[in-house]
Amino acid sequence: MTASSFHPPVRTLMGPGPSDVNPRVLEALSRPTIGHLDPEFITLMDEVQELLRYAFCTSNALTMSVSAPGSAGMETCFVNLVEPGDKVIVCQNGVFGGRMKENVERIGGVAVMVEDDWGRAVDPARVEDALATHKDAKILAFVHAETSTGALSDAQALAGLARQHDCLTIVDTVTSLGGVPLRVEDWGLDAVYSGSQKCLSCVPGLSPVTFSQRAVDVITSREHRVQSWFLDLNLVLGYWQGGGKRAYHHTAPVNTLYALHEALVILQEEGLENAWARHRSNHEALKRGIEAMGLEFVVPESERLPQLNAVSVPEGVDEAAVRSALLNEYNLEIGAGLGAMAGKIWRIGLMGYASNPTNVLFCLGALEAVLSGMQAPVTPGVAVAAARAALEA
Ligand SMILES: Cc1ncc(COP(=O)(O)O)c(C=O)c1O
Repeated sequence: MTASSFHPPVRTLMGPGPSDVNPRVLEALSRPTIGHLDPEFITLMDEVQELLRYAFCTSNALTMSVSAPGSAGMETCFVNLVEPGDKVIVCQNGVFGGRMKENVERIGGVAVMVEDDWGRAVDPARVEDALATHKDAKILAFVHAETSTGALSDAQALAGLARQHDCLTIVDTVTSLGGVPLRVEDWGLDAVYSGSQKCLSCVPGLSPVTFSQRAVDVITSREHRVQSWFLDLNLVLGYWQGGGKRAYHHTAPVNTLYALHEALVILQEEGLENAWARHRSNHEALKRGIEAMGLEFVVPESERLPQLNAVSVPEGVDEAAVRSALLNEYNLEIGAGLGAMAGKIWRIGLMGYASNPTNVLFCLGALEAVLSGMQAPVTPGVAVAAARAALEA
């Protein structure tokens, strides 16, 4: 086979991630590669750490970017905090809580599951019961923003309960960071991981993480060696510690870190609270249009993520055919349901750079055209006007 250069189509990414990447981030990615121990690169790493502290709302010293996607951030938290035999209370209200369970069990820990309906937030009352029943639990693990269903859980309340029971928390913020309020320090979260490709609108492949001093104390006084060499924070720390003392651990993804740096600079320029407000207002506009068309949201309004809109597929509509038509005719990507929700929902992302009024109107117009063309039970001609009215209000 003789291959030639790959030129991807230009899509609008309104699925569950990756989201559209800001052109400034793509430009940063293409700057000249320098050595990963070059003093200039070390300065960049220090800045990435400081910018991540801003994004996570924390002063945690151990704040950095794992050189792999969100799943590696998840695994970093679990392999460093959980030891064989440890009990972890894991909340599951979608796909990603199931992955947390898998992580605990692969380490040889015991996962105590607190299950909630998919499409609902984690219920603090159930968590409180589990903490009261399992007084020997070491960690409470939960997903702040469940991308598989579009549900937002109350991380502050859950972390408060964990503290009352002297438990550490592991919190998945892959989809929440930069999109909804997340205050790691004020809320007392201990081990927090995220992803570069959602509301930060950076390219995929990095996982920002941050650890409280309580978590660091547990990591540095472990009984067993961390089972993963690559993710062992006791070793990675030597690479990410500041003050020009960096020692070789692995070759950092140099250009990807330029991209993350640029994405975080953009976030700082906008202001974190303005970014949260933007995600909220674009969601409000999309919601008006979706509901005007006669479609329904999966998640109750008070538990809904603004950046990930799960919409029920109307009876008799072939959900995959709709997504294909949007992709082929409009270059527009929206997401399918995962796991128990496969075939039943669409997931419309309004994340980071992609969360803007133009995309809201474009998506509503395209969706309405495709659904009307299929004789789906929707009200035509009203969605865009409803969203515009919300945007202009
Ligand atoms: C809530 C959540 N956790 C973890 C992950 C895993 O991240 P990645 O796909 O970057 O490994 C995702 C990815 O969509 C996610 O949405």
